[in-house]
Amino acid sequence: MIIQKTSNSRIGDFDPNNIGFGAAFIDHMIICEYENGKWGDVKLMPYGPLPFTPAMMGVNYGQACFEGMKAYKDKDGEVYLFRPEKNFERINKSAKRLAMPEITEEMFIDGLKALVDVDRAWIPYGEGKSLYLRPLIFATEEALKARISNKYMFAIVATPVQSYYTEPVSVKISDYYSRAASGGVGNAKAAGNYAAAFYPTKLANEEGYEQIIWTDDATHEYFEESGTMNVFVRINDTIYTPPTSDKILDGVTRDSFIQLAKKRGIDIKVEPIEVAKVVEAHKNGELKEVWGVGTAVVTTAFKALGYKDEKLVLPILSDEESFAISLKKNLVDIQTNQSEDPFGWRV
Ligand code: COI
Repeated sequence: MIIQKTSNSRIGDFDPNNIGFGAAFIDHMIICEYENGKWGDVKLMPYGPLPFTPAMMGVNYGQACFEGMKAYKDKDGEVYLFRPEKNFERINKSAKRLAMPEITEEMFIDGLKALVDVDRAWIPYGEGKSLYLRPLIFATEEALKARISNKYMFAIVATPVQSYYTEPVSVKISDYYSRAASGGVGNAKAAGNYAAAFYPTKLANEEGYEQIIWTDDATHEYFEESGTMNVFVRINDTIYTPPTSDKILDGVTRDSFIQLAKKRGIDIKVEPIEVAKVVEAHKNGELKEVWGVGTAVVTTAFKALGYKDEKLVLPILSDEESFAISLKKNLVDIQTNQSEDPFGWRV
């Protein structure tokens, strides 16, 4: 790895008590360029703009994918990544689906470790706080023919964050727009998946909903994801989450929630969730909780689901009653080294 450290740290301007999400970037970044059929040297360098042309293929044709992950600081100042090998596997799955070159485990894991290590001082400590890491791969060739690019960049940038949403949100169950289609790129973390979600989300916002529950493109009768998260539904004491597919992202937080619930002996079923079943459960008073999970948010609880002309208001549960809150606590305690790590997830 080529290491070029900044002589001009910006950390003095950073207020760890006023963080936001994704606004301030740490002093350094990782970059690595691909051309002539191979990846070059990984470089750790000062964070900042790079020279690109608007004729770059990545911005014209959307050959770009990313990961979202976090580094956590414990009370002694020690720093942990969480299941980074899962993100490594997934970025390569995304790259493959978008016809981009895969990266090596060394580029990904060593890049993350070097970046987190050099900018440890930027990692905030405290409830809900962490360093959000954004590895990404995008096409950089200057060419406008619609074909696979010959040049790429792998980069990692990072930003100190606090919780993304704190209050429960209202979500609209989509009966028209979809996030993904069979045979499409829904299970790749393709940049374009997020771009395509913005407009329907804006329409939902105008109707008073913060997010959308995405339903399947063929019938709109089954839950798929919610916003940028995987979705969980609790009916009585059973939790449901849809199985991953080519339309549903294989979320690291989703998988961790499933494993934690199983370990606690909670009844959890990975099976398709029919909208009609959720509406029926609400009518019968059996719909206890619906929530989204993702790296950025960890968990967002939903307070109401909009469906066609109805608004299904969810019960307000105490922290002790809520499976979402107690599973989140189990997860965060492992991530931040406040509990044992029976699964060996901390790195
Ligand atoms: C994540 O949870 O890391 C995400 O992908 C959400 C992000 C787009 C903010």
